[in-house]
Amino acid sequence: METRDYIELDDEYSAHNYHPLDVVINRAEGVWVYDVDGNKYLDCLSAYSAVNQGHCHPTILKAASEQMHRVTLTSRAFRNDQMGSFLRDLCELSGYEMALPMNTGAEAVETAIKAARKWGYRVKGVPNDQAEIIVCHGNFHGRTTTIVGFSSEESYKQDFGPFTPGFVTIPYGDSAALERAITPTTVAFLVEPIQGEGGVIIPPEGYLRDVAEICRRNKVLLIADEIQTGLGRTGALFACDHESVRPDIVVVGKALSGGFYPVSAALADNEIMGLFQPGDHGSTFGGNPLGAAIGRAALAVITDNGLVDQSRELGAYFKGRLARVESDHIKEVRGQGLFIGVELHVPARRFCEELQERGILCKETRENVIRFAPPLVITKEEIDWAMTHIEPVLMMD
Ligand SMILES: Cc1ncc(COP(=O)(O)O)c(C=O)c1O
Repeated sequence: METRDYIELDDEYSAHNYHPLDVVINRAEGVWVYDVDGNKYLDCLSAYSAVNQGHCHPTILKAASEQMHRVTLTSRAFRNDQMGSFLRDLCELSGYEMALPMNTGAEAVETAIKAARKWGYRVKGVPNDQAEIIVCHGNFHGRTTTIVGFSSEESYKQDFGPFTPGFVTIPYGDSAALERAITPTTVAFLVEPIQGEGGVIIPPEGYLRDVAEICRRNKVLLIADEIQTGLGRTGALFACDHESVRPDIVVVGKALSGGFYPVSAALADNEIMGLFQPGDHGSTFGGNPLGAAIGRAALAVITDNGLVDQSRELGAYFKGRLARVESDHIKEVRGQGLFIGVELHVPARRFCEELQERGILCKETRENVIRFAPPLVITKEEIDWAMTHIEPVLMMD
């Protein structure tokens, strides 16, 4: 089969809920992916930061394949010998007392919403069914009907209502707006430390510190969605670490499996997570032994290989190189660690397609932003190589 045949198959049998670049990948290793014609590309998206450890990392592969031969799924009706040690490692690394394992990011966000509401009723004393959660304009937390219901992006919501009540939207990056929006029934503020899908939007310095203080003062839980920013992407283990903020609940996913398998979790201390009782919440696959073995190895790869430092150092280098490109198309270069957005004055799609021609895979974020978020194992030499293509592409007419 040729590239065109694969695309036709997709288009015939898959719902058209994505607009992918027409590259058909059949192999990947580290920062490189290969298409069915044997062309090689530098992956600058990392599956939306799920493959921070690089594609098919051998340590994670070994853990996955060994576990696949033993047992893959027990359901939580029984216990398995992998989940406990995975969650212990995750809790020790993140500094929380307990975790609730799920699969996709959206499920972990839903878990955090449930945890916050339950805390609101049982601990804060909010009257039944009145809990409010404050969210930000431009947010992206996933695609369930509850989550898209509090998105500000019309295309995410159109034709999918009616939506879950109990969410209030404020501008992103505006801590005074949070203070104003809090009422006696507010249980949580849900926020991305950097808005990824919103276009790599970095809030003003001190924002996270301020909102953490406002939440604490008003007995409101701070929920940080670190699904995209967490696990080294921004040059800190969690993006909240840049401002020494410890949220009440953190949600992680994506790189928690290094791209092998959907593994996510909500993290909190016992005061919140301990409120869940048998039957309250769950998932057939959440906490399964295959995902747990993979997750444990994925965390070890990040810590054992210094990927957080690598992201910080090479991110600064890459951003510096991009910031020196003198192109009239560029409005702003921004980022933290290897999470970089180049905002253009014009639509970014054409530039992504040209980069694809030259062997670099990027995806436009919102209309005008090119996101550069390669696996954290990228080297300086690979960034230098990439810049020999990125620079002329950004300069084109
Ligand atoms: C910040 C954030 N939250 C949640 C999600 C949803 O994760 P998933 O697609 O695994 O449900 C994403 C995915 O891009 C994300 O970036």
